[in-house]
This record gives sequence, structure tokens and C-alpha cells, in this order.
Amino acid sequence: MANNLLKGKKGIIFGALDSNSIAWKVAEAAHAEGAQIMLTNAAVALRMGEINVLAEKIGAQVIPADATSMEELGALLDAAEAEFGKIDFVLHSIGMSPNVRKKRAYTDLHYDWLGKTFDVSAISFHKIMQLLYQRDLMNEWGSILALTYVAAQRTFSEYNDMADAKALLESFARSFGYHFGKKSHVRVNTISQSPTPTTAGTGVAGFDKMLSYGELMSPLGNATADDCAKYCVMMFSDYTKRITMQNLFNDGGFSSMGISADMFEHFNPEG
Ligand SMILES: NC(=O)c1ccc[n+]([C@@H]2O[C@H](COP(=O)([O-])OP(=O)(O)OC[C@H]3O[C@@H](n4cnc5c(N)ncnc54)[C@H](O)[C@@H]3O)[C@@H](O)[C@H]2O)c1
Repeated sequence: MANNLLKGKKGIIFGALDSNSIAWKVAEAAHAEGAQIMLTNAAVALRMGEINVLAEKIGAQVIPADATSMEELGALLDAAEAEFGKIDFVLHSIGMSPNVRKKRAYTDLHYDWLGKTFDVSAISFHKIMQLLYQRDLMNEWGSILALTYVAAQRTFSEYNDMADAKALLESFARSFGYHFGKKSHVRVNTISQSPTPTTAGTGVAGFDKMLSYGELMSPLGNATADDCAKYCVMMFSDYTKRITMQNLFNDGGFSSMGISADMFEHFNPEG
């Protein structure tokens, strides 16, 4: 049920690849709440994914941009400014690790690839914010979000260098949140989401086990992509104006758990 929570607001959503993508669900939910949206992704993702289906559905323009390229991000913001003027919300929903993709062990990282992991998955967030900040493109009381995972704070052995990228991403939200708050009352937060079956998610080794583990440990069960979309809408809305520089868990309670009765049962079904 939509409540026009984002009526009149304009935003840029990075990272919708296909209908499983969290960004896809956020775009649909934000549109249903009255927002106008510009979609963007890397050119290769535009060719391989289904973003045009989404764009048509929600009446959004799609502008290609590699989120590591200041030049392409600049062109994206030119297009956004031409269409919207200033912007009310931004979602960074981007992650990629060549070390994960090529199954390099954490103890044998390829350092050029580590640099790429950081650039795509974390530094891109700083680049986007820096351009928005310097060009003064965010409206007062706007909201900027990025998606993260609890492996930034606790060790998940198979999450590899993405854990370090997420730690950096969360730190950028705090550090830039200060400057954006002082400049124009813009808030910057990260949402730490449960394991979610998407292209990026299922690329992590042992993803199915992490999904089952999350389900057994979380009193409310894993948060879905739709749950995440609703949380993002709330964070873009005027109901969360003074929440900033936070890492917000959308994980069914997982991050506060030690062990659960369901896990005991899992290890000893005979009781
Ligand atoms: N799926 C999960 O289990 C899970 C859990 C917590 C957080 N997250 C985070 O959610 C975000 C969205 O991932 P998802 O799970 O929806 O998967 P997804 O594969 O649908 O989305 C990842 C997106 O990143 C984009 N991308 C990669 N390189 C890029 C580049 N250079 N420039 C621009 N875009 C680029 C891809 O094209 C894709 O659209 C990521 O930050 C991911 O780490 C996912």
C-alpha cells in the first residue's frame, strides 16, 4: 500500500541489474511512493541486464555510468540536473570483487584486484558524494544511502575482500555524513542487509549456507529485497530527517544474536 511518502522527490538509483537486484525493488517501491527516478548502471550491465524493462515500468531515464569514472559520473549528474534540478535522494547499490569472482583466497589476494574491489564497491560512493557536494546538487534535507553487509564488522570467513570494502563504505558514510550535514542538512547512512539471493549475493562462496544460517539465527528471519526497499523508502522520506552517519541493520535481528534455539536444533535434531 503506497502512501505518497516520496511525492515530489527526485532520486538517482545505482545498481539495478535484473528483477532480483535490491536496487530494482527500491526503484519500484520509491516510484510507488510518488518519487521520480533516474536509473544508472555500468554500460556492460545495461547490455546484459534488464534495466530497460524497469525503466519503462516506472517511467525513468537510464544513464550509463561506470561508478569508478569521475567523467561518467559527471555526465550522469549533468543529465540528472537537466531533468530534475536538485536531487532529494541517492541509492548506492553497487558491489563487485574480482578476487571473489576469480575465487582468490583472502590469504592470497591479488592486490590490483583488491584495488578494483575498493574502487567499485566503496570509493565509488565517495566519488558520487564528492561530485554531488562540490556541485551542490542535493536538496536541503536530502538522503543518501548505500547498502552494506555485517561482514564489515564481524568476520565472515568466505566474504573475502568485500568485507574490507564494506568497512570502508560504512566509514565513508560517517565521514561524508558530517560534511553533508553541515553543508545542507543532507543525511548519509548505510543499510546492512541480510543475505539476499541476487547476482552479487550468490557470487559469494557458500551463499546458500549463509542464507540458511541467517534464517536459523534471526528471530524475524532474513530481510528480503522487498523489506530492504521499504526501509530505503523510509530513509528517503521526511520521517527520518535527523538520522545520519549510521549503519542501520535490516537483518531480522541477526546482528544482535549469539546463538538461537533453531541453531541448537540444527546441530542436534535428536534433542
Ligand atoms: N545480496 C546480498 O546478499 C547482499 C547483502 C548485503 C548487502 N548487499 C549489497 O547490496 C548491493 C546491491 O547488490 P545486489 O545484491 O542487489 O546484487 P546485484 O548484482 O543485483 O547488484 C550489484 C550491482 O552493482 C553494479 N556494478 C558493478 N560494478 C559497477 C560499476 N563499475 N559501476 C556501476 N555499477 C556497477 C552491477 O551492475 C549490479 O547492478 C551491493 O552493494 C551488495 O554488496 C547485498
